[in-house]
Amino acid sequence: MNRNLVITIDGPAGAGKSTVGKTLAEEISYVYLDTGALYRGVAYRARQEAIMSNDVEGLSRLCGKITIKVKPVGTNVRIIVDGDDVTDKIRTEEMGFFASQISAVPVVRERLLSLQQEIGRTGGVVAEGRDMGTVIFPHADIKFYLIADVNERARRRYRELIERGENVEFTEIQRSLSARDQQDSGRSVAPLMAAEDAIIIDSTALDITGVVSAMKRIISERSGNGL
Ligand code: DC
Repeated sequence: MNRNLVITIDGPAGAGKSTVGKTLAEEISYVYLDTGALYRGVAYRARQEAIMSNDVEGLSRLCGKITIKVKPVGTNVRIIVDGDDVTDKIRTEEMGFFASQISAVPVVRERLLSLQQEIGRTGGVVAEGRDMGTVIFPHADIKFYLIADVNERARRRYRELIERGENVEFTEIQRSLSARDQQDSGRSVAPLMAAEDAIIIDSTALDITGVVSAMKRIISERSGNGL
């Protein structure tokens, strides 16, 4: 198998990108790059410093001094921000929403650009986010765009958060996901959208295994290698 492909997965919140991306990366022994975690990491520090999402100067100052390390652990990675392992602390819906807000600010996107490209430089990576196939890896070997009906996405996200012990309301998750869709698609810099050459997969009626199998089939066909 070709060990050096760059495979991207973009799509709206809750479409299953993380679970699918992680599973795919594990099955083909690639590194999994969760770029949402980087935005969440910046959001986490901004929250700690009481910087608001519309405070461009404050965010600019933060981006000038923040250190972000992506530490590989097996096929997974830990996100270390200013020496603090924030990997597990950034997974709340509230932090996702705040990350979405600050990710519309150009200085934040610029701060994370080279970091992401550096990780994908040698290939062998499954990179997941909103602008992987359009901005960060425009020459990626295979681009997926994962979609799912918004109610189904809310149901999945709700189950995931409840299982993690978060106290959330289903209607609040629905509202938050819809607002996030609008924020992520409507911003002027690197908005969420499918690259022209992306393969669109609708996961509404598919489980993780179904989506991962479909992806592996496509990778295999495209790369001319049996996976
Ligand atoms: O995938 P996620 O839910 O962890 O992402 C959190 C937010 O970060 C998302 O709503 C928008 C932003 N984000 C982005 O703008 N670009 C990316 N490549 C990844 C995430």
